[in-house]
Amino acid sequence: MEHLISLHDLTLEDFESIFKLAEKLKRQQKEGISHHLLKGKTLGMIFTKSSTRTRVSFEVGMYQLGGYPLFLSSNDIQLGRGETIYDTAQVLSRYIDGIMIRTFAHSDVEDLARYGNVPVINGLTDLMHPCQILADLFTVYEHKGTLKGLKLAYIGDGNNIANSLLHGCAKVGMDIAVASPKGYECDSQIVEEAKEDAKASGSNILLTEDPEEAIKDADVVYTDTWVSMGQEAEKEERIKIFMPYQVNSNLFSKAREDAIFLHCLPAYRGYEVTEDVIDGSQSVIFDEAENRLHVQKAIMALLMGNR
Ligand code: CP
Ligand code: NVA
Repeated sequence: MEHLISLHDLTLEDFESIFKLAEKLKRQQKEGISHHLLKGKTLGMIFTKSSTRTRVSFEVGMYQLGGYPLFLSSNDIQLGRGETIYDTAQVLSRYIDGIMIRTFAHSDVEDLARYGNVPVINGLTDLMHPCQILADLFTVYEHKGTLKGLKLAYIGDGNNIANSLLHGCAKVGMDIAVASPKGYECDSQIVEEAKEDAKASGSNILLTEDPEEAIKDADVVYTDTWVSMGQEAEKEERIKIFMPYQVNSNLFSKAREDAIFLHCLPAYRGYEVTEDVIDGSQSVIFDEAENRLHVQKAIMALLMGNR
């Protein structure tokens, strides 16, 4: 593992190493045991989109690992004024030990990795959100004690979260059903990649327009906003199209009785999910958000630590 850009690039062993180290770092942090695995290292964090969880968890995580995080908003760095990815990658590689980037075009993250010579971590693109999904799967493992053989149902927009869930579930052998309206399906290349991995792991993939079909027998129910960053102009139209995909108590009751509810957050109550579900006893959204910290610390330590 040189970078963390797409979950499709990771082996099952990579997933296992990340989870194993995340578990250890989580325990050490709770017990107040110092774990300065990145002492003296620096992480540049480029953001061209907003963030609460990703920014804070990477920043705090780097500090807890003994390193130093730099928040680089595109409003403040020359990238936002048209400096090329090539020059940015070359220059940053001379100063820092790793780059985390959240941006629009997925190809910008790939280019940063190609042109620079430090590890690059994808902190969300229009296409994928791999760090989120690693934290999600870690959370499912904590609550269910296993991943293989479980079923996850994702109801809603076939967006970056849905794409990375397809990659992640297929890799670890979880069944995944995605219900999204026509025209809002997951990326077709990612579907093909996930199918390829599913063959090896024994996972089943179901893509449907019917939320009830998707949620049947699900151990994990997941949804995300209907209006991702950059889609604000489509908000009214999207709300109309996605309303039948709302995860409310009626739909949630069709999952397994002990199903847990996940949402990457930020959530819009009354739209993609109702209060009774997201604030109900089966929701584990704050464990999920917390695990961003522990899982990303493991990712940074594995990519940037002395090997
Ligand atoms: N889930 C997630 O990535 O949240 P932020 O947009 O707050 O970083
Ligand atoms: N799909 C959402 C995820 C936010 C964490 C977005 O891209 O805005």
